[in-house]
Amino acid sequence: MAATSQYSPGLEGVVAGISKISDIDVEKSRLIYRGYDVHELAKHGSFEETAYLLIYGKLPNEGELGDFRADLTAERNVPDYVYNAMSHVPKTAHPMDQLKVGVATLAGGDPDYTASPTDHDANVRKAVRLTAKMGALVSNGWRIAHGETVVQPQGGLDAAANLMYMLNGKEADEFTVSTMDTSLVLYAEHGYNASTFAARVTVATLSDIYSGIVSAIGTLKGNLHGGANEKAMEMLQEIGTVENAEPWIRTALAEKKKIMGFGHREYRISDSRAGIMGEMGKEAARRTGNEKWAEMAEIIERILKEEKGLFPNVDFPAAYAYYSLDIPIPLYTPIFAVSRITGWSAHIIEQLDNNRLIRPKAIYEGEALRPYVPIEER
Ligand SMILES: CC(C)(COP(=O)(O)OP(=O)(O)OC[C@H]1O[C@@H](n2cnc3c(N)ncnc32)[C@H](O)[C@@H]1OP(=O)(O)O)[C@@H](O)C(=O)NCCC(=O)NCCS
Repeated sequence: MAATSQYSPGLEGVVAGISKISDIDVEKSRLIYRGYDVHELAKHGSFEETAYLLIYGKLPNEGELGDFRADLTAERNVPDYVYNAMSHVPKTAHPMDQLKVGVATLAGGDPDYTASPTDHDANVRKAVRLTAKMGALVSNGWRIAHGETVVQPQGGLDAAANLMYMLNGKEADEFTVSTMDTSLVLYAEHGYNASTFAARVTVATLSDIYSGIVSAIGTLKGNLHGGANEKAMEMLQEIGTVENAEPWIRTALAEKKKIMGFGHREYRISDSRAGIMGEMGKEAARRTGNEKWAEMAEIIERILKEEKGLFPNVDFPAAYAYYSLDIPIPLYTPIFAVSRITGWSAHIIEQLDNNRLIRPKAIYEGEALRPYVPIEER
């Protein structure tokens, strides 16, 4: 039986692995991906550079980045049988459930399907294929669910530009692409969060990367994790007006409601990513006549800080940033997955490079040993 003294509800504070992928400096509210401050990556880099960094472990030089972009473009097309499988998902399903079907269906057609789960090079190739295809799965999944024909990815466009192109059927302006690109950099990786941990647990049984990603997508969907960006926007819509922001939030706090897009298990002062996402979100709101969401956000942030010492996490500003880019709300969490596929992949590769089955214990609080009672005597 496990000792009660070792038990930490929600595994809070428990060290469950060793990783070289990212680190959170809680005191300084700083997030680093393989040693680089995420702020610098967001400011000077691109999602492609970040993806390369996470998957291959180093920043690419120009030649490597060019080859990586070419690999991603070459791998972007999704086979028709995958779209066909996704078309059978009930139209009422959330896009994250449809995305799980897409990824699960891709698995068997991967050229490295029969490779050993611990084959590092095969896992890297699978990670690149998945990274390339996620945007197409999300955008065409949405089209399929709405009875529209699928759009083919456009070669030569990077992930952010291609995603916006596939969502809208036309190329997006520079500001929209750069806002999306920065959000993808910020969402890419975050240590042993719930979805990443779920992915690691799955592959640690020597299951494959696709299964790990399906577990991760299912875990990201939850409102306490990636699902918070959609719920935050729904909350803003429910509040409706700038005038209603303060009374609405005060009532919600009095009723002990959780405010989506606020708080974090790891950070204590602020979420390192929320500042950049907030600036971008507010700029996007200003440019598109959506100022009211940004104004409401400021009121909500002030009250939560004063009343509960709570700060916005990355999902709060992402919500009004994506809304201002005219992205349908049910796609906010799937877009998170379009980015996080890189962090998940890096963790899966790391796990399988040095694998040990992940199998914790529970404290048993059920009945003590008792005799089996025949059914007619119960
Ligand atoms: C992220 C989250 C799950 C972390 O939770 P946690 O580490 O388990 O912390 P707890 O839920 O135990 O919260 C600790 C305290 O802060 C409060 N709190 C934390 N987040 C809160 C929120 N978003 N709204 C209102 N109160 C919150 C809790 O009510 C609790 O207060 P209490 O001690 O008076 O009961 C939590 O902050 C949350 O639910 N946030 C909203 C969902 C969200 O935005 N998720 C995305 C995370 S990136």
